Amino acid sequence: MKLELIDITNPATRNGTVGHGMTPGGIGPVLAAATTRRLAGDHGPGVIAPASAALDLGPLQPLMDDPTVADILVNGAQRIYVERDGVLYLTDSHFRSDAELLAAIQRIVSFTGRRVDASSPLVDARLPDGSRVNAAVPPVAVDGPSLSIRRFPRSRFFAEDLVANYSLTKEMVDCLKACVQVRLNIMISGGAGSGKTTLLNALSRFIPERERIVTIEDAAELRLQQPHVVRLETRPTGCESEGDAIYVRQLVVNALRMRPDRIVVGEVRSEEALDMLQAMNTGHDGSLTTIHANSPRDGLSRLEVMVGMANANLAPRNIRQQIASSIHVVVQMARLPDGTRKVTHIAECLGMEGDVIILQDVFMFERTGLTADGKVTGQFHGTGMRPRLFDRLRSAAIDLPLSTFRSVTPVN
Ligand SMILES: Nc1ncnc2c1ncn2[C@@H]1O[C@H](COP(=O)(O)OP(=O)(O)OP(=O)(O)O)[C@@H](O)[C@H]1O
Ligand SMILES: [Mg+2]
Repeated sequence: MKLELIDITNPATRNGTVGHGMTPGGIGPVLAAATTRRLAGDHGPGVIAPASAALDLGPLQPLMDDPTVADILVNGAQRIYVERDGVLYLTDSHFRSDAELLAAIQRIVSFTGRRVDASSPLVDARLPDGSRVNAAVPPVAVDGPSLSIRRFPRSRFFAEDLVANYSLTKEMVDCLKACVQVRLNIMISGGAGSGKTTLLNALSRFIPERERIVTIEDAAELRLQQPHVVRLETRPTGCESEGDAIYVRQLVVNALRMRPDRIVVGEVRSEEALDMLQAMNTGHDGSLTTIHANSPRDGLSRLEVMVGMANANLAPRNIRQQIASSIHVVVQMARLPDGTRKVTHIAECLGMEGDVIILQDVFMFERTGLTADGKVTGQFHGTGMRPRLFDRLRSAAIDLPLSTFRSVTPVN
């Protein structure tokens, strides 16, 4: 059963779900939460509806109810960590036993129509409030069941919020906004939890309202504000009664038949890279995506590997050429030691020189040290070059002063 389709007013559906082995006390609140938010992102701008306040997760419930908690990480019954403001803390909460933890995991995943056990020990699921869940249980989780929950943020970050908390500068936002408006293809690169999706969400707001956007995600996290959006989501394997898995690649191919003006791929991780690049190159420019990588160059290399997985007959040089002509801008996100997230690079792709893709930094964050209380010091600065994209912006009548690319903003 798919989370979004549950109708609490329909007794048949409700009974069917209870029949999944849920305790009566557990399912009612879950269903109530499901109807509170039929789809994460259905709410207007700014603050979204409360998370699944009544979702009964035992000792995890107070952590789920705490708006300052971004991640909840459970390593066996006794160790429950949370992330607040980018920093991990060990809590004093715990389950009484691994069996109790396993039961909580079972409740979550069986509610989403999936199962977790020794024969299917890894599972991804999504809570009714949009939070992402991953569970790994024995035998693959050697020290007991493990659960990772990425909370669906209750309020979203707009670009001005990211400027206010020094994730990037106003000049960098101006540059990225112009890039979105002139339909450059942008790839946001970064490590796990570095803020890629958050930035993608913020940038998506600069897409003009008249355009038709198709979004493709593993778990629908994006919250686009435009009126004309079609949201597609993959279907994992192991869903009872739902048929075969549906992968990002199939959704990208399908999206091309939907007459999109832009395609937004929540995260590119596999063979869909090839179809996405082709789409970017053939009339769907202005597309946006994210990739898991630690530097802009690393992001391009990973993309190359993914395209190679999709078609092993493509010569590396041809793949690179395709990447160089499809990706115009790479934005690098990082989570710094003090827990803050920052855009550390905005780089433009200048095509190929020989066999190498040329990347040119336009903006950077340069770290200089740490304050006594552990805050990262440094400065955002434009590299002072006249970027190639500056001419593209100008020819599209976007008036961004050249001084934008020379700005310097100290942090701490
Ligand atoms: N610029 C930021 N400033 C403060 N908090 C942020 C910022 N960006 C993201 N966060 C918070 O960090 C957490 C992770 O953010 P997000 O989901 O955007 O990261 P991600 O890189 O997409 O993660 P993943 O690799 O799991 O997809 C969220 O709780 C989010 O609210
Ligand atoms: Mg993400």
